[in-house]
Amino acid sequence: MPINLKGRSYLTLKDFTPQEICYLLDLAADLKSKKRAGIRGDLLAGRNIVLLFEKTSTRTRCAFETACWDEGGNATFLSNSQMGKKESLEDTAKVLGRFYDGIEFRGFSQKTVEDLARFSGVPVWNGLTDLYHPTQALADVMTLRENTAKPLGECKLVFMGDARNNVANSLMIISAKLGMRYTAISPRELAPDAALVAQMREVAKETGAQIELTDSLSGLEGADAVYTDVWVSMGEEAKFAERIALLKDYQVNAAAMARTNNPRAIFLHCLPSFHDLETETGRMVKEKFGLDEMEVSDEVFRSAQSRVFDQAENRLHTIKAVMVATIGRQ
Ligand code: CP
Ligand code: NVA
Repeated sequence: MPINLKGRSYLTLKDFTPQEICYLLDLAADLKSKKRAGIRGDLLAGRNIVLLFEKTSTRTRCAFETACWDEGGNATFLSNSQMGKKESLEDTAKVLGRFYDGIEFRGFSQKTVEDLARFSGVPVWNGLTDLYHPTQALADVMTLRENTAKPLGECKLVFMGDARNNVANSLMIISAKLGMRYTAISPRELAPDAALVAQMREVAKETGAQIELTDSLSGLEGADAVYTDVWVSMGEEAKFAERIALLKDYQVNAAAMARTNNPRAIFLHCLPSFHDLETETGRMVKEKFGLDEMEVSDEVFRSAQSRVFDQAENRLHTIKAVMVATIGRQ
């Protein structure tokens, strides 16, 4: 049956079938080839999108904007709207739905992005909430697919670190959907939410995926990709001391990569990353806690195994695919 995603929102990935996700991955690969060949498209011509940001961003904002322009659409960036301050979310959503063909939201509450979809009447794309980062997961799987000859269903993806954060949740969801082996390595305090794990294990029964949780680095064995993210996500800035105490033994460093026993294993990170002292936060952590690097060593970040900048580029192609599929002319 042909896949038709027109008019759909992209909020958690839980409501997408494996076939729909593969369709988005294939479309992203086509759009990447087209961009590489210097072909400008018009798949979003006549389409206007708005990007609502409560939290900061480099990749997500720039990916939505450039993806839209590449295909002939127009984008408005809005980080100081009346929404929730002088105007209800419902009223704002209804107004934006009259102006725009699609809405991207990055912010705190998952309910906000879901309510935008409920009230606006146009597709809404989740550009990260406290709970999920589904456009990131699509780029991550695209990067893994580019780096392995194996079908995704035979790949093992290990996430090590704060395994209950937005990025890890979305990786678990996409892994379950695509029949992958997903291993979350974290201290128990930072293990993924039990309800989400149970839900994804149900999905796994259909797809053949495996969802494993452990606090032991032995979970790295056989990984095709080792993934980590910051130890303190946006909005959790008061938690540095607590997280460093919990996660200091869970850094992705050369010893951790060696424990995969797979010289072809790649390293992934959604970015931004604290792998050196070139950031204000990195220097604050050095001063207060004495660490030169946090979730990943500078050595691994810059190693031949690292694919973090391919992954960042793939945000553009995958976000373009999501927009073309849901509001495009194709
Ligand atoms: N990975 C990611 O979402 O990056 P930004 O926060 O820069 O958008
Ligand atoms: N977990 C991180 C991801 C940033 C892209 C955060 O929410 O800050």
